[in-house]
Amino acid sequence: MTPEAGGCGDLPASSVPIESARPVNTEVEWDGFDPHAYVSHNYADLRSDDRELLRRTRDFFAGARLAEARCVDVGSGANLYPALTLLPFARAIELCEWSTSNLRWLRTQVDGYDKLWDPYWQVCLEHPAYAALSDPRQRLAQVGRVSRTSVFDLPQHTWDAGTMFFVACSISADRAEADHAVARFLGALRPGAPFAVAVMLGSAGYRVGPRFFPAVALHRAEVVAGIAAGAYEVTVYEERPRPRLRDGYLSMLLVTGRARG
Ligand SMILES: C[S@@+](CC[C@H](N)C(=O)[O-])C[C@H]1O[C@@H](n2cnc3c(N)ncnc32)[C@H](O)[C@@H]1O
Repeated sequence: MTPEAGGCGDLPASSVPIESARPVNTEVEWDGFDPHAYVSHNYADLRSDDRELLRRTRDFFAGARLAEARCVDVGSGANLYPALTLLPFARAIELCEWSTSNLRWLRTQVDGYDKLWDPYWQVCLEHPAYAALSDPRQRLAQVGRVSRTSVFDLPQHTWDAGTMFFVACSISADRAEADHAVARFLGALRPGAPFAVAVMLGSAGYRVGPRFFPAVALHRAEVVAGIAAGAYEVTVYEERPRPRLRDGYLSMLLVTGRARG
């Protein structure tokens, strides 16, 4: 994700059109999120940083001894690759989102996703566990279900595996809400459930088309500590491309592990 149309990048304060300087989640107009602008800016071309996160998440789930799992992707927005990493192991994948524009986009993509996501599946196919699945488009249509659920209202101990990409850092400017989102996500998983969480570090907000969305400038240590409080077998990978691919944030962090429940 980039500052112009996604994720959590810095922008000058003068370009922030929302009233509160540090808006909380309920103050943000999520229905004004343009999924097409977001996808075209962030995912139209598979970039090396997303490729690395995708490869690592793929390998993690492939090694997690998962089968016929009830899975969740939280804050799916306009990104299918976290759900694709769960696909071979899922009997159901719930894509939880809050923005009505993103919910509409997700429903069309679950019915039959765009060609744009084929290169992402190609990366998955490099692992034999994924190569066994011959028609990922049809499988997602079979097992995917889109629901309007806030990360703050997730039910407890419900799913066998889960992903939450670029959500904790970028659903408000309130650090406590970022912590709360991580805790709710982990609490929604069953004890021992494998998960992958990705966040931007050091970011302050992002544009999607003409609109600005807030973010929190998270630090690696606090993210890892927050996740470790609700998880075990935690591994951390920081993607810090040099030269930088995008302005406005320091790096991308991928944390995998198993929920304590
Ligand atoms: C920066 S986007 C990340 C989207 C996607 N997961 C990705 O990897 O690119 C943040 C997403 O969180 C969603 N969101 C905002 N508030 C939320 C809430 N309370 N519960 C669930 N999702 C929320 C937004 O609508 C948006 O789709």
